[in-house]
Amino acid sequence: MILVTGATGTVGREVVTQLLASGKKVRAMTRNPAKARLDQRVELVRGDFDAPESLERAINGAEKIFSLTFGPKTGTHEGSLAAAAKKAGVRQIVKLSALGGDDELRNDIRKWHDEGEAAIRNTGVPLTVLRPTGFMSNALHWRESIRSAGKVFSNYGDGKLPCIHPRDIAAVAVRALTSDGHEDKAYTLTGPEALSVREQVGILADAMRRSIEYVVVTDDAARKGMMRAGMPGFLIDALIPFAEFVRSGRAAQVNRTVEEVTGRSAFTFRDWARDNASAFS
Ligand SMILES: NC(=O)c1ccc[n+]([C@@H]2O[C@H](COP(=O)([O-])OP(=O)(O)OC[C@H]3O[C@@H](n4cnc5c(N)ncnc54)[C@H](OP(=O)(O)O)[C@@H]3O)[C@@H](O)[C@H]2O)c1
Repeated sequence: MILVTGATGTVGREVVTQLLASGKKVRAMTRNPAKARLDQRVELVRGDFDAPESLERAINGAEKIFSLTFGPKTGTHEGSLAAAAKKAGVRQIVKLSALGGDDELRNDIRKWHDEGEAAIRNTGVPLTVLRPTGFMSNALHWRESIRSAGKVFSNYGDGKLPCIHPRDIAAVAVRALTSDGHEDKAYTLTGPEALSVREQVGILADAMRRSIEYVVVTDDAARKGMMRAGMPGFLIDALIPFAEFVRSGRAAQVNRTVEEVTGRSAFTFRDWARDNASAFS
């Protein structure tokens, strides 16, 4: 049985679906099983990274774990998870991390994940790390401004990012959890092409058969917008330097890891936009 944490979120939900499709038994961890809305075949377990005693219960009997957590406490969260996993004899943890820049710029998101990776490694439980670039699904944050004004505002300028479909991240996670040879590996994951927000907006407009205007804004305006949207300050502070990284052109590098690990091409933003156009109307 495989324990999936973050199972009700964007990536975790896909991991659950794909593990079930490959015939695996799945236990899904959530803070609120009543709201999980997962397939009936999934065993739900209540667990909270902020309540380490709940992790022991969630892990008991699991062979492998998909670990997904977020924020400044990532190191503590995954330290507790991995300690319980070690005690329970878990054979592998596949951790969702983040690319979060390069050697020159490692934003806070990447630093929190570095702490999580180190905390797991310290326990000796075999680890596979997935470091994706920005998710295609981040475009869902544009829903409100598209609906109300037909506009997308961004401080990424014309910098390009090879954003990735969450389904592809999940596909790599499932391969790592269900086939041999992925222990002690770290996979950097990108989508198949680097796109600017302007290009993404054009693709989304085609999929929605309407016009959408792209408006470049300053970091200051972006910060105010994120604050208005209720984003926590620690996340805003991590995202502003990442925008500078994107504008510099250094975030544009594409790789073929999804294809190499899964044996099929990575999904394009056009695929994502077609599947999700209705979410914007
Ligand atoms: N968005 C990007 O562009 C991007 C890029 C690279 C990496 N990442 C990484 O991707 C991860 C986010 O993935 P996602 O977008 O799939 O997540 P998400 O949709 O935001 O879902 C968050 C999940 O975490 C669970 N969760 C939240 N707090 C928890 C707690 N205290 N204890 C246990 N579970 C908790 C939630 O479950 P319940 O509410 O059901 O408990 C939910 O399933 C982060 O680690 C982020 O750094 C994101």
